[in-house]
Amino acid sequence: MRRRTFLSWAGVGWLMSRVPAGLTAFLAACTGRGNEQANAKRFETVGTIAELDAKGFLQTESPAPIVVIRSPSDPKTLIAVNSTCTHQGCLVGWSKERKSFVCPCHGAAFAADGTVQKEPAAKPLETYPVQIDGQNVQVKLG
Ligand code: FES
Repeated sequence: MRRRTFLSWAGVGWLMSRVPAGLTAFLAACTGRGNEQANAKRFETVGTIAELDAKGFLQTESPAPIVVIRSPSDPKTLIAVNSTCTHQGCLVGWSKERKSFVCPCHGAAFAADGTVQKEPAAKPLETYPVQIDGQNVQVKLG
């Protein structure tokens, strides 16, 4: 087989190997199933309801620095925040007594919904959608 013929057939083979993946992506885009699957993948389990109720909060650094609490004003509602302080990046913790997220570095405090209560932080904590799936607490990352 001549070199030119071989390269032509190799190119056709490579192109044909891409057809199934391209067709799948095209069909997913047409039906919207790709978006549903992508959205479903973004919910990550960060703990269980039992752990949340035992400690009063869930805290994890993977897949992101997250703290989940029950809303002090409505315990049926869960709140998830990015625990990275917006001042200089220390990790805040939940204080049940103060009903605030408190930063150990420079004393900033944030309300349960992430809004700033006390400087030096100027921006609120990022919040995430949170849901209960069976016994698991899941957070949807942005
Ligand atoms: Fe949180 Fe400074 S890093 S108050």
